[in-house]
Amino acid sequence: MFEQIADKLKNAKKIVFVTGAGISQESGIPTFRGKDGLWRKYDPMKLATIDSFYEDPKLVWEWYEDRRKNILSAQPNPGHKAIADLEKYKEVVVLTQNIDGLHQRAGSTNVLELHGSIIRIKCTVCDFHDETTTIFENLPPLCKCGNILRPDVVWFGEALPQDIWNNAIIHANSCDIMIIAGTSLAVSPANTLPIYAKQNNAILLEINPDETIMSGDMELSIKTTSAKALPELVSILES
Ligand code: APR
Repeated sequence: MFEQIADKLKNAKKIVFVTGAGISQESGIPTFRGKDGLWRKYDPMKLATIDSFYEDPKLVWEWYEDRRKNILSAQPNPGHKAIADLEKYKEVVVLTQNIDGLHQRAGSTNVLELHGSIIRIKCTVCDFHDETTTIFENLPPLCKCGNILRPDVVWFGEALPQDIWNNAIIHANSCDIMIIAGTSLAVSPANTLPIYAKQNNAILLEINPDETIMSGDMELSIKTTSAKALPELVSILES
């Protein structure tokens, strides 16, 4: 799979991953735009915007609680684990659009969550925020200040956390290889990260069973799943 870039892989010092829902698909978590994707069944404008949240916070919370239950019962797959293993050989940074925390659960130590985390909650008014794996009985849950709590995720139309985005650009600008795994690159600004890397002469490598809008810009685009491809990538460095 990786023969044509094996030497570049061995010589690389810093590898940055940009990951999306596809890398967790083999952990039983649906993607958004794939065949059984969430946005094929649900209207994102009814469930993933601040307006829809204030319009019907109970509905939005019910949907996130379902996803949270599924995510909390899911396990990292060989794709997540391979990225964590790679830290033995290289400086590795993961820029993920995923809110599932599976990279960290697989052992990755340098993960930037561009779209927040479904494990975290925050108050819509005061600066309370926390991590929780409790399944809320009463929805929407209330903060001790009396206002509604919300999932600490980035909804459509909302800005990414500025510090995290600034750091993501710094990493994209300073990597030798960028591996884009399991994302359609349909959403900005995350889909600009490969452009930053390319402008800095990084090698772009894509892992995705399907074509994406940037497949043509990749040095290598491997049409398979991340759980199949990524362990093989690590085995090249082990050899
Ligand atoms: N391995 C690798 N890639 C896969 C796999 C797999 N097992 N299964 C599916 N894919 C690919 C699909 O072909 C698709 O290109 O993963 C991609 C998933 O794309 P999306 O569903 O669009 O998910 P993502 O790119 O993460 O979406 C970006 O959009 O809805 C918002 O905030 C949400 O973070 C999300 C953002």
